[in-house]
Amino acid sequence: MDMQKIPAREGNHNLKDYQKMRESFSWDDMKKNFSWSETGKVNIAYETIDRHADNPDTKDKVALIYSAPDREETRTFDELRKESNQFANVLKKYGVKKGDRVFLFMPRSPEFYAAFFGILKIGAIAGPLFEAFMEQAVRDRLQDSQASVLVTTPELLPRVPQDDLPDLQKIVLVGENDEKDEKYIDYQREMEAASDQFDIEWVDLEDGMLLHYTSGSTGKPKGVYHVHNNMIQLYATADWVLDLKDDDIYWCTADPGWVTGTSYGIFGPWLKGVTNVIRGGRFTPESWYETLQDNKVTVWYTAPTALRKMVSAGENLPEKYDLSSLRHVLSVGEPLNPEVITWGLKALNLRIHDTWWMTETGAMLIVNLPSEEIRPGSMGQPIPGVEATIVDNEGNEIPPNQMGNLAIKTGWPSMMRAIWNNPSKYESYFVNGWYVSGDSAYRDEDGYFWFQGRLDDVINTSGERVGPFEVESKLIEHPAVMEAGVIGKPDPERGEIIKAFITLNEGYEESPELLEEIRQFVKTGLSAHAAPRELEVKDAIPKTRSGKIMRRLLKSWELGLPTGDTSTLEE
Ligand code: WTA
Repeated sequence: MDMQKIPAREGNHNLKDYQKMRESFSWDDMKKNFSWSETGKVNIAYETIDRHADNPDTKDKVALIYSAPDREETRTFDELRKESNQFANVLKKYGVKKGDRVFLFMPRSPEFYAAFFGILKIGAIAGPLFEAFMEQAVRDRLQDSQASVLVTTPELLPRVPQDDLPDLQKIVLVGENDEKDEKYIDYQREMEAASDQFDIEWVDLEDGMLLHYTSGSTGKPKGVYHVHNNMIQLYATADWVLDLKDDDIYWCTADPGWVTGTSYGIFGPWLKGVTNVIRGGRFTPESWYETLQDNKVTVWYTAPTALRKMVSAGENLPEKYDLSSLRHVLSVGEPLNPEVITWGLKALNLRIHDTWWMTETGAMLIVNLPSEEIRPGSMGQPIPGVEATIVDNEGNEIPPNQMGNLAIKTGWPSMMRAIWNNPSKYESYFVNGWYVSGDSAYRDEDGYFWFQGRLDDVINTSGERVGPFEVESKLIEHPAVMEAGVIGKPDPERGEIIKAFITLNEGYEESPELLEEIRQFVKTGLSAHAAPRELEVKDAIPKTRSGKIMRRLLKSWELGLPTGDTSTLEE
């Protein structure tokens, strides 16, 4: 097979549909798929869950298959409707109102989904936090968002700060506990007492629903603010790109603490009313093959880092499993290596479809559609209704085959509407009518986009965005560390790993024990995925005369590359 171009196959729509759509497409027409196109009043929780529970044909359809090593359960659409109603009533009882921020800090479980939709039904804004976060990461996010309620588990409670959170009124505990303070709410007890009937708070399309914190190259993580209007594009892409049909069994591997885990782990599949597999527990290639096999998964949305692990686990491994149900595979979060696509064709007998988007974009923008040819190594082409290009630093478009900043014409439905409490940061994303992504890429003559790297210092490790500033800040809290500079170092399996350069305070000697202690300090204070895998002690950290850490220079040293312009380097 010509690996440069992998031919298309049929999806929900054929190639001609897409060609027509790309020429004359209006997002307004997409709205006709929703009941609210008549009333104007919406709630994404209604469209994802209750709509299917209202329909006698889908009321008792399995919406959720939950499988974790110690727990297997299912929920129908009707059950999810009732449980989320109950949780909305619990929130109402404790005074939560439209626009309040309610955060979730817990592992994936059926309770997570009931709580998530309960929050949306009352018109509040949900803030899911990655379960691996440690105290500092949790504090930063709860402080910035001024969350009034947190839903967590007794196991994770020790990582929830007990001070500096004046806005946090209540903590809902999911799981056995004996907390007596009236600050705590027992999930089980309250749910049993709550009615399963609830009048949904109807909101405007532009009302908030979700805050996802994400890292940039400077400062603390930023709250990316999304509104109910996202549903239009989430529905469209679930149809066109995930290619979901009524009887699909769908599995998205992402945690709802990250945007893929909400946009396509929750909204996309359930807007389309399919059965959604949620897997808890840790990752091994074997357990993932089992999940695909045992649940007869038909559509699978995952990430290059997982696929690369499966590749290294051996080509013969897939033969041990019955994967005959699987018909469509997609990837997001990092560059999808052509070798992985080749592996997919051989081992799974399927194409792997790369998709590109960001927390800020809310939904997929550049994709490989089922009925279009794939060019391995390319992220694909913009979806209908989206215009993408490559711009220079001034926001001027540049011709094909030249590298520049990947940019999107503003106005797609799922675009973030704000950075929480930070209007100037929000403004900084836009130049000349374009949303400028910070990814470098080029576009070929046929309109396929090719990812090249990040233009800033943001690190992408196993598909998770890590801001160097956050890690540096934590490192220098350790008494031994004077200064720190953090970079992403290329790694065949993880994409990048985090490498930290540090200088030591007087009185401290470099030793393997000390370095391990510092590593653990970040791991237990911030989060496991942000802990540097490599630590190197230096005599000095290169900085500009204005005191900015020159991470670029650290990176060039690390990779043995030319150091470029160092005229701003401090003496
Ligand atoms: C990177 C995840 C290459 C990119 C949905 C982007 C990708 C950042 C791809 C966003 C892809 C995402 N190929 N790189 N297909 N998809 N990225 O906010 O650098 O966690 O800017 O959103 O991941 O990461 P985020």
